[in-house]
Amino acid sequence: MASSSTVYLLFLFLATTLIMIPRPSSSRAVPSHDDGGAGKAAYTKVCDASRFEAAGLDMSRYPYCNASLPYADRVHDLIGWMTVEEKVSNLGDWADGAPRVGLPPYMWWSEALHGISSTGPTTKFDDPKKPRLHSGRAAVFNGTVFANVINSAASFNESLWMSIGQAISTEARAMYNLGKGGLTYWSPNINIVRDPRWGRALETPGEDPYVVGRYGVNFVRGMQDVPGHVDTSDLNSRPLKTSACCKHYAAYDVDDWYGHTRFKFDARVEERDMVETFQRPFEMCIRDGDVSSVMCSYNRINGIPACADARLLLGTIRRDWGLHGYIVSDCDAVRVMTDNATWLGYTAVEASAAVIKAGLDLDCGESWIFEDGKPVMDFLTTYGMEAVRKGKMREADIDNALTNLYMTLMRLGYFDGMPKYENLNEKDICSDEHKSLALDGARQGMVLLKNHDNLLPLSAEKHAAVTIRGPHAQAPEKVMDGDYTGPPCRYVTPHEGISKDVKISHDANLTVYFGGINLHIEREGNDREDLLLPKNQTEEILSIAEASPNPIVLVILSGGGIDISFAHSNPKIGAILWAGYPGGEGGQAIADVIFGRYNPGGRLPLTWFKNKYIHQIPMTSMALRPQPDHGYPGRTYKFYDGPDVLYPFAHGLSYTKFRYELTVPDKSTTVKLAAARRHCKRLSYKAGTLHAAPSCPAIDVASHACEETVSFNVSVVNHGDVDGAHAVLVYTVPPREVASAPIKQVVAFQRVFVKAGAATTVGFTLNVCKAFGIVEKTAYTVVPSGISIVHLENGDSSSPSSVSFPVKISFSA
Ligand SMILES: *[C@@H]1O[C@H](CO)[C@@H](O)[C@H](O)[C@H]1NC(C)=O
Ligand SMILES: *[C@@H]1O[C@H](CO)[C@@H](O)[C@H](O)[C@H]1NC(C)=O
Ligand SMILES: *[C@@H]1O[C@H](CO)[C@@H](O)[C@H](O)[C@H]1NC(C)=O
Ligand SMILES: *[C@@H]1O[C@H](CO)[C@@H](O)[C@H](O)[C@H]1NC(C)=O
Ligand SMILES: *[C@@H]1O[C@H](CO)[C@@H](O)[C@H](O)[C@H]1NC(C)=O
Ligand SMILES: *[C@@H]1O[C@H](CO)[C@@H](O)[C@H](O)[C@H]1NC(C)=O
Ligand SMILES: *[C@@H]1O[C@H](CO)[C@@H](O)[C@H](O)[C@H]1NC(C)=O
Repeated sequence: MASSSTVYLLFLFLATTLIMIPRPSSSRAVPSHDDGGAGKAAYTKVCDASRFEAAGLDMSRYPYCNASLPYADRVHDLIGWMTVEEKVSNLGDWADGAPRVGLPPYMWWSEALHGISSTGPTTKFDDPKKPRLHSGRAAVFNGTVFANVINSAASFNESLWMSIGQAISTEARAMYNLGKGGLTYWSPNINIVRDPRWGRALETPGEDPYVVGRYGVNFVRGMQDVPGHVDTSDLNSRPLKTSACCKHYAAYDVDDWYGHTRFKFDARVEERDMVETFQRPFEMCIRDGDVSSVMCSYNRINGIPACADARLLLGTIRRDWGLHGYIVSDCDAVRVMTDNATWLGYTAVEASAAVIKAGLDLDCGESWIFEDGKPVMDFLTTYGMEAVRKGKMREADIDNALTNLYMTLMRLGYFDGMPKYENLNEKDICSDEHKSLALDGARQGMVLLKNHDNLLPLSAEKHAAVTIRGPHAQAPEKVMDGDYTGPPCRYVTPHEGISKDVKISHDANLTVYFGGINLHIEREGNDREDLLLPKNQTEEILSIAEASPNPIVLVILSGGGIDISFAHSNPKIGAILWAGYPGGEGGQAIADVIFGRYNPGGRLPLTWFKNKYIHQIPMTSMALRPQPDHGYPGRTYKFYDGPDVLYPFAHGLSYTKFRYELTVPDKSTTVKLAAARRHCKRLSYKAGTLHAAPSCPAIDVASHACEETVSFNVSVVNHGDVDGAHAVLVYTVPPREVASAPIKQVVAFQRVFVKAGAATTVGFTLNVCKAFGIVEKTAYTVVPSGISIVHLENGDSSSPSSVSFPVKISFSA
């Protein structure tokens, strides 16, 4: 921290260097701990008597440091010591703390989408090019970069998702112990991919709300759960390994589509779509994952900015779903309300007051902008005092926000330490175990899209040499790793991966082409204009295929789907493998699949549409169901069954063949739900399907105990000649007479390993309300009476297998 030009900055400097990272003088490029000048080891806990003593304070005077008191009492005490100015200065992500009473500054913003990321100001990997002034602490240059989330999603393996969360939180704790990172991580991203053009598909688990929700639950549990404390009775004091954050709430999935930016976009959303699609993963993340934070998004929803919507924040997240934790704004979302959305003509002060009133607890400010010579980091700390003085912001609401924040830090051991994790250090980052998990995860997510005449796997004996072509053969880290990463521990390009197996020659009789897109085409802040490959790439692939003596292998790197119809229908392109953006170990994972050391078992977590589809519907139309008045088709596999699909949701081939055999207890499963007449809801029916509507068409699940279940076993038979993993997806199909219901919906899934010639039995128990429930027009979740179908299909168009059975649901008074 060289010269600070103003007294204000000098004050900030003094206030913040007491313990941790100093604020920058003019930009958000933060000096690392080492050149921060403090020269001290990072602290491990706030309530350390010697730390208080060094600051001239007596810790025993502060009950907030008394570990025998309940967290709630300690937090109450802590806030009680603070002046209103101090309180307000803690409502932004660079929280000042209250050094006067022993509370150090804390930086809230860390990211861990698929590995610890250098995005945000808190996480500091060391830079080998910069000399480190204090050599006492170990340097950390790299972290484990797992495959991107869209890849992991394709594995449909819940234990993989949890293991990745566990590995990342271990590395995060190690970074924290080394003074290079925080405890609060703003991951995962659980917005669904409503439109195939969305630039952030790579960051997400795909298009299905249930699958996305299960990804969120498992990742969050991996990040947060401390073994032995998973099911405590008091969830408000449940310890956290690290804090995860489900984002971005809600109905956010337009970044920048022909000038419609996320900052200005007002998503017009029907309540039914809110409940059924946009909110569902968040509800699961909070209720089933017990996540400790939710981030509200930039966009407006039906006119109101998400971060200023009391119904969504206080009503839904806190009251209905019972969040134990804090709500943070997307970075600069409060500024965006005034500067970009110009919502209600609000001033900065009014916007700050509105978000606190709506239930926001923390404002992330990304910018470092000077106004009247003073830095504006985030709106709440900058304009909060003025809002308080003008009577627009109540101190009691500020206290509530701080309570949510400090309860989270208490649970993280920020005040008392957490001995269980205090020995983690640089050796726990990029450990062999984590690197092999990254490799295994990347392999599990590979999706074989086409394999004519079993061109794949190649055999190293048969193919002494292959020719490698295409822009991604030497894909740099930026392509393989995608977004939100740190420098990877190890980095294997596709070319390197392949060259371990065979000679790379340019005149071999077999060609592997590495194509696809990259972050210039799909990324945060940039939606796609079309679903095609760059034109010259298509031309190159076609001309190489044409000239090749044998069919070529095409490997596609992308997050979202690509219309490669030209390749699918071309007999000279024999095999197509989707590798997503597979992370640091990606080149090895690709080679393992191409040479048959790993039998691919991934299935697409989103529909790959033909490019024609996007000309039928603007990205800004939020509706999931077809809109006949506008001629818009439906969205995702749940509501679109038209012709413009290249590869459907859950498509994925294998080097072996899987067949299903079903064991249902009773051929005609009938479930009777006890229902009082007042719980009955009306449904709309398709014209001409029923003589008369049933007397009780459907029951409202909210008023029903929902204990009924349907159980069945499915035997997954591997009748090919190699071992392999297969993801079993269970769908339900609502009664066919019900109008505007989903075509089908995923209600359960399980990835299993089956040896060649063997079978593995998987048992499923479906909760009737959850699995057969649908959301009716007025947004009630109901179970319809009538015949629903349970349906399974193996996703392998070259060797299809599907099984179904009907479930008759009726109500008895
Ligand atoms: C901490 O709280 C407990 C329980 O109220 C009390 O008995 C104890 O004296 C307190 N310790 C200190 C140092 O104040
Ligand atoms: C948001 O508003 C600010 C201030 O007017 C402007 O500088 C910025 O470019 C706007 N951003 C977008 C994406 O419109
Ligand atoms: C590890 O990080 C350093 C610093 O960013 C980088 O130079 C190096 O390439 C990384 N290692 C690998 C294997 O990518
Ligand atoms: C490719 O060439 C090798 C010799 O280099 C030969 O053994 C092999 O049969 C050829 N494969 C095909 C599919 O033509
Ligand atoms: C296609 O054109 C772009 C832009 O000129 C170029 O960077 C890229 O290398 C070309 N790709 C191929 C496969 O020829
Ligand atoms: C499923 O398999 C389990 C374990 O083998 C068995 O106990 C159960 O009865 C089976 N259920 C059905 C519906 O066949
Ligand atoms: C699921 O992932 C776990 C953790 O990586 C792995 O051990 C297991 O083999 C995977 N299951 C299948 C069936 O692939």
